Amino acid sequence: MTDKVKIQDLVFKKYLTQSQIQKQIEVLADRIAVDYKDKDPVFIVVLNGAYMFASDLLKATALDAPMTFVKISSYVGTESTGNVKVIMDCTLDIKDKDVILVEDIVDTGRTLHHYQEVLSHRSCRSIAIASLLVKPNKLEFPLKIEYRGFDIEDDFVVGYGLDYNEYGRMYADIYQLFEEE
Ligand code: IMP
Repeated sequence: MTDKVKIQDLVFKKYLTQSQIQKQIEVLADRIAVDYKDKDPVFIVVLNGAYMFASDLLKATALDAPMTFVKISSYVGTESTGNVKVIMDCTLDIKDKDVILVEDIVDTGRTLHHYQEVLSHRSCRSIAIASLLVKPNKLEFPLKIEYRGFDIEDDFVVGYGLDYNEYGRMYADIYQLFEEE
């Protein structure tokens, strides 16, 4: 079992294990299951990175709720570009629904801040955010994150759905950028 992985030009070191991730997802899922018991939830998953988290989260809540996907882009390589584009929008009617936006990681908060504004014109009853990871020091946009898995340091991470230039998504653990000696 290696603790380091090389993806293209960068080396990453193991940061969060599969077991830590799955335990934390159980905690979030239990809270969501209680909070949404008498609501009408719809999970809107932000592609691509959140697909693994969303799948494990929905299974763990055991809520029979619709899940739909959106694709929003703001990142190139390891940097947020400041330019948010909705590449694929949600096609479900979310009027009077309780939306849970599922994200892999909140960095500056730009992506979700922008998309929440888009959704706010669609008459949903409520919008909450579930993000597996949050980089609190990098938050630039006001964002209430109701369900957050781990607050992490600023360094770039990959694995468990998160990518570096589209690679590294398949790991069950999460790896952090490693400063090479
Ligand atoms: P934000 O708009 O700055 O909050 O960035 C959110 C998006 O940037 C996430 O959905 C990810 O796709 C991407 N992102 C931010 N930080 C990382 C990281 O450390 N690894 C991989 N993707 C990241």
